[in-house]
Amino acid sequence: MSQTFILDGKTIPFADGQTIMQAATQAGVFIPHLCYHPDFKPHGSCKLCTVKVNGRQTASCTMRAMAGMVVESDTPEINAERLTLTQMLFVEGNHFCPSCEQSGNCQLQATAYHLGMMSPHFDHFFPNRAVDASHPEVLLDFNRCILCSLCVRASRDVDGKNVFALSGRGIKTHLIVNAKSGQLADTHFTLDDKAAQVCPVGVILKKRRGFAVPIGERTYDKQPISATVDAAEGN
Ligand code: SF4
Ligand code: FES
Repeated sequence: MSQTFILDGKTIPFADGQTIMQAATQAGVFIPHLCYHPDFKPHGSCKLCTVKVNGRQTASCTMRAMAGMVVESDTPEINAERLTLTQMLFVEGNHFCPSCEQSGNCQLQATAYHLGMMSPHFDHFFPNRAVDASHPEVLLDFNRCILCSLCVRASRDVDGKNVFALSGRGIKTHLIVNAKSGQLADTHFTLDDKAAQVCPVGVILKKRRGFAVPIGERTYDKQPISATVDAAEGN
Protein backbone atom coordinates (compact mmCIF):
# COMPACT_ATOMS: atom_id res chain seq x y z
CA MET A 1 0.00 0.00 0.00
CA SER A 2 2.62 2.50 -1.03
CA GLN A 3 0.30 4.81 -2.96
CA THR A 4 -1.27 7.80 -1.27
CA PHE A 5 -3.54 10.75 -1.93
CA ILE A 6 -4.32 13.87 0.08
CA LEU A 7 -7.70 14.25 1.80
CA ASP A 8 -8.28 17.58 3.55
CA GLY A 9 -4.54 17.91 3.99
CA LYS A 10 -4.07 14.42 5.39
CA THR A 11 -2.09 11.70 3.59
CA ILE A 12 -4.31 8.67 2.94
CA PRO A 13 -2.77 5.38 1.82
CA PHE A 14 -4.76 3.14 -0.54
CA ALA A 15 -4.54 -0.16 -2.36
CA ASP A 16 -5.15 -0.59 -6.08
CA GLY A 17 -8.85 -0.57 -6.90
CA GLN A 18 -9.99 1.07 -3.66
CA THR A 19 -12.40 3.98 -3.82
CA ILE A 20 -11.78 7.26 -2.04
CA MET A 21 -14.50 6.24 0.46
CA GLN A 22 -12.88 2.87 1.19
CA ALA A 23 -9.42 4.34 1.66
CA ALA A 24 -10.70 7.20 3.82
CA THR A 25 -12.74 4.81 5.97
CA GLN A 26 -9.76 2.54 6.41
CA ALA A 27 -7.72 5.54 7.52
CA GLY A 28 -10.42 6.44 10.06
CA VAL A 29 -11.62 9.53 8.19
CA PHE A 30 -15.41 9.93 8.04
CA ILE A 31 -17.07 10.99 4.79
CA PRO A 32 -20.87 11.38 5.13
CA HIS A 33 -22.78 8.69 3.23
CA LEU A 34 -26.17 7.02 3.18
CA CYS A 35 -26.27 4.59 0.23
CA TYR A 36 -22.71 3.31 0.71
CA HIS A 37 -22.24 0.16 2.80
CA PRO A 38 -18.91 -1.66 2.93
CA ASP A 39 -20.54 -5.03 2.20
CA PHE A 40 -22.12 -4.00 -1.09
CA LYS A 41 -21.21 -2.61 -4.46
CA PRO A 42 -21.53 1.20 -4.41
CA HIS A 43 -24.83 2.58 -5.64
CA GLY A 44 -23.92 6.26 -6.02
CA SER A 45 -27.44 7.58 -5.54
CA CYS A 46 -27.53 9.71 -2.38
CA LYS A 47 -24.60 11.99 -3.30
CA LEU A 48 -23.95 12.72 0.37
CA CYS A 49 -20.40 11.45 -0.13
CA THR A 50 -19.62 14.06 -2.77
CA VAL A 51 -16.09 15.42 -2.53
CA LYS A 52 -13.97 17.63 -4.75
CA VAL A 53 -11.13 15.88 -6.54
CA ASN A 54 -8.60 18.28 -7.99
CA GLY A 55 -11.38 20.89 -7.86
CA ARG A 56 -14.16 18.82 -9.50
CA GLN A 57 -17.10 17.26 -7.68
CA THR A 58 -17.48 13.49 -7.67
CA ALA A 59 -19.03 10.75 -5.53
CA SER A 60 -16.30 9.36 -3.27
CA CYS A 61 -18.05 5.99 -2.96
CA THR A 62 -17.65 5.28 -6.67
CA MET A 63 -14.46 7.22 -7.52
CA ARG A 64 -11.30 5.14 -7.50
CA ALA A 65 -8.41 6.54 -5.53
CA MET A 66 -5.45 7.65 -7.61
CA ALA A 67 -1.94 8.48 -6.45
CA GLY A 68 -1.38 12.15 -5.78
CA MET A 69 -5.00 13.29 -6.09
CA VAL A 70 -6.04 16.18 -3.88
CA VAL A 71 -9.46 15.61 -2.29
CA GLU A 72 -11.57 18.10 -0.34
CA SER A 73 -14.40 16.77 1.81
CA ASP A 74 -14.89 18.52 5.12
CA THR A 75 -15.21 22.07 3.76
CA PRO A 76 -17.99 24.64 4.39
CA GLU A 77 -18.93 24.57 0.69
CA ILE A 78 -19.29 20.80 0.40
CA ASN A 79 -20.98 20.45 3.78
CA ALA A 80 -23.52 23.12 2.75
CA GLU A 81 -24.41 21.01 -0.30
CA ARG A 82 -24.66 17.89 1.84
CA LEU A 83 -26.97 19.78 4.18
CA THR A 84 -29.26 20.73 1.27
CA LEU A 85 -29.36 17.10 0.07
CA THR A 86 -30.22 15.96 3.58
CA GLN A 87 -32.99 18.55 3.90
CA MET A 88 -34.43 17.33 0.59
CA LEU A 89 -34.48 13.76 1.87
CA PHE A 90 -36.28 14.90 5.00
CA VAL A 91 -39.10 16.65 3.10
CA GLU A 92 -39.49 13.88 0.51
CA GLY A 93 -40.54 11.47 3.24
CA ASN A 94 -42.41 11.64 6.52
CA HIS A 95 -39.47 11.82 8.90
CA PHE A 96 -41.27 12.62 12.12
CA CYS A 97 -38.40 11.53 14.34
CA PRO A 98 -40.20 12.16 17.66
CA SER A 99 -42.47 9.18 16.97
CA CYS A 100 -40.04 6.97 15.03
CA GLU A 101 -38.60 3.97 16.81
CA GLN A 102 -35.35 4.32 14.84
CA SER A 103 -34.70 7.75 16.33
CA GLY A 104 -31.20 7.72 17.81
CA ASN A 105 -30.24 4.74 15.65
CA CYS A 106 -30.98 6.36 12.29
CA GLN A 107 -28.21 7.26 9.87
CA LEU A 108 -30.25 9.99 8.18
CA GLN A 109 -31.02 11.69 11.50
CA ALA A 110 -27.42 11.30 12.70
CA THR A 111 -26.17 12.78 9.42
CA ALA A 112 -28.52 15.73 9.87
CA TYR A 113 -27.10 16.30 13.35
CA HIS A 114 -23.57 15.98 11.99
CA LEU A 115 -24.28 18.64 9.37
CA GLY A 116 -25.92 20.96 11.89
CA MET A 117 -29.36 20.76 10.27
CA MET A 118 -31.86 22.80 12.33
CA SER A 119 -34.95 22.39 10.11
CA PRO A 120 -35.87 20.76 6.79
CA HIS A 121 -36.15 24.23 5.17
CA PHE A 122 -38.15 23.06 2.10
CA ASP A 123 -41.87 22.35 1.77
CA HIS A 124 -42.87 18.84 2.81
CA PHE A 125 -44.17 16.37 0.21
CA PHE A 126 -46.17 14.41 2.82
CA PRO A 127 -46.27 11.08 0.94
CA ASN A 128 -49.16 8.84 1.84
CA ARG A 129 -47.98 5.30 1.16
CA ALA A 130 -49.71 2.46 2.97
CA VAL A 131 -47.74 0.75 5.72
CA ASP A 132 -47.22 -2.98 5.16
CA ALA A 133 -47.85 -4.82 8.43
CA SER A 134 -48.62 -8.15 6.77
CA HIS A 135 -45.47 -9.94 7.91
CA PRO A 136 -45.59 -11.49 11.40
CA GLU A 137 -42.16 -10.16 12.39
CA VAL A 138 -41.57 -7.03 10.32
CA LEU A 139 -43.40 -3.80 9.53
CA LEU A 140 -42.58 -1.63 6.53
CA ASP A 141 -43.15 2.13 6.64
CA PHE A 142 -42.49 3.19 3.05
CA ASN A 143 -42.94 6.87 3.91
CA ARG A 144 -39.44 6.95 5.39
CA CYS A 145 -37.62 5.31 2.48
CA ILE A 146 -34.66 7.29 1.10
CA LEU A 147 -34.21 4.93 -1.89
CA CYS A 148 -30.68 3.94 -0.94
CA SER A 149 -31.36 0.45 -2.34
CA LEU A 150 -29.40 -1.27 0.42
CA CYS A 151 -32.30 -3.65 1.12
CA VAL A 152 -32.60 -4.34 -2.61
CA ARG A 153 -28.88 -5.18 -2.87
CA ALA A 154 -28.87 -7.18 0.38
CA SER A 155 -31.88 -9.28 -0.58
CA ARG A 156 -30.67 -9.92 -4.12
CA ASP A 157 -26.92 -10.31 -3.56
CA VAL A 158 -26.70 -11.84 -0.07
CA ASP A 159 -30.06 -13.45 0.68
CA GLY A 160 -30.70 -14.58 -2.91
CA LYS A 161 -34.37 -13.66 -2.55
CA ASN A 162 -35.09 -10.46 -4.48
CA VAL A 163 -37.68 -9.36 -1.95
CA PHE A 164 -37.35 -5.61 -2.67
CA ALA A 165 -37.07 -3.45 -5.77
CA LEU A 166 -37.16 0.21 -6.70
CA SER A 167 -39.98 0.99 -9.11
CA GLY A 168 -41.05 4.07 -11.05
CA ARG A 169 -39.03 6.99 -12.33
CA GLY A 170 -37.78 10.32 -11.07
CA ILE A 171 -39.73 11.73 -8.17
CA LYS A 172 -42.19 8.80 -8.48
CA THR A 173 -39.48 6.23 -7.69
CA HIS A 174 -40.51 4.12 -4.72
CA LEU A 175 -39.70 0.89 -2.97
CA ILE A 176 -41.86 -2.13 -3.73
CA VAL A 177 -42.10 -5.67 -2.41
CA ASN A 178 -41.65 -8.30 -5.11
CA ALA A 179 -44.80 -10.36 -4.58
CA LYS A 180 -47.96 -10.55 -6.66
CA SER A 181 -49.89 -9.08 -3.77
CA GLY A 182 -47.12 -6.54 -3.04
CA GLN A 183 -47.20 -7.72 0.58
CA LEU A 184 -44.14 -8.73 2.57
CA ALA A 185 -45.96 -11.71 4.04
CA ASP A 186 -46.13 -13.23 0.56
CA THR A 187 -42.32 -13.34 0.17
CA HIS A 188 -39.70 -15.58 1.78
CA PHE A 189 -38.39 -12.66 3.84
CA THR A 190 -37.26 -13.53 7.37
CA LEU A 191 -35.72 -11.61 10.26
CA ASP A 192 -32.41 -13.39 9.64
CA ASP A 193 -32.10 -11.91 6.16
CA LYS A 194 -29.31 -9.44 5.59
CA ALA A 195 -32.00 -7.19 4.12
CA ALA A 196 -33.62 -7.03 7.56
CA GLN A 197 -30.43 -5.48 9.01
CA VAL A 198 -29.34 -2.83 6.53
CA CYS A 199 -31.97 -0.10 6.35
CA PRO A 200 -30.24 3.13 7.46
CA VAL A 201 -33.56 4.74 8.38
CA GLY A 202 -36.85 3.56 9.85
CA VAL A 203 -38.53 1.64 7.01
CA ILE A 204 -37.81 -2.01 7.85
CA LEU A 205 -38.84 -2.34 11.48
CA LYS A 206 -38.80 -5.42 13.68
CA LYS A 207 -42.17 -5.73 15.33
CA ARG A 208 -42.42 -5.62 19.13
CA ARG A 209 -38.79 -4.39 19.49
CA GLY A 210 -39.28 -0.63 19.27
CA PHE A 211 -38.21 1.83 21.98
CA ALA A 212 -36.31 -0.92 23.83
CA VAL A 213 -33.10 1.11 24.20
CA PRO A 214 -33.24 4.00 26.70
CA ILE A 215 -32.59 7.49 25.40
CA GLY A 216 -28.94 8.19 26.03
CA GLU A 217 -27.89 4.67 25.07
CA ARG A 218 -28.97 4.57 21.44
CA THR A 219 -26.26 4.26 18.79
CA TYR A 220 -25.86 7.94 18.00
CA ASP A 221 -26.56 9.15 21.55
CA LYS A 222 -23.25 7.66 22.57
CA GLN A 223 -21.17 9.02 19.70
CA PRO A 224 -21.83 11.16 16.65
CA ILE A 225 -21.95 9.41 13.30
CA SER A 226 -18.55 10.87 12.42
CA ALA A 227 -17.01 8.83 15.25
CA THR A 228 -18.47 5.51 14.10
CA VAL A 229 -16.19 5.24 11.09
CA ASP A 230 -13.68 2.87 12.67
CA ALA A 231 -16.01 0.72 14.71
CA ALA A 232 -18.61 0.18 12.02
CA GLU A 233 -16.68 0.12 8.80
CA GLY A 234 -13.01 -0.04 9.48
CA ASN A 235 -12.31 -2.93 7.16
S1 SF4 B 1 -36.22 0.53 2.76
FE1 SF4 B 1 -34.42 1.32 3.80
S2 SF4 B 1 -32.74 0.08 2.92
FE2 SF4 B 1 -34.48 -0.13 1.53
S3 SF4 B 1 -34.20 1.46 -0.05
FE3 SF4 B 1 -35.54 2.32 1.56
S4 SF4 B 1 -34.14 3.38 2.97
FE4 SF4 B 1 -32.88 2.01 1.72
S1 FES C 1 -22.67 7.22 -0.40
FE1 FES C 1 -21.85 7.83 -2.31
S2 FES C 1 -23.59 8.42 -3.45
FE2 FES C 1 -24.45 7.66 -1.57
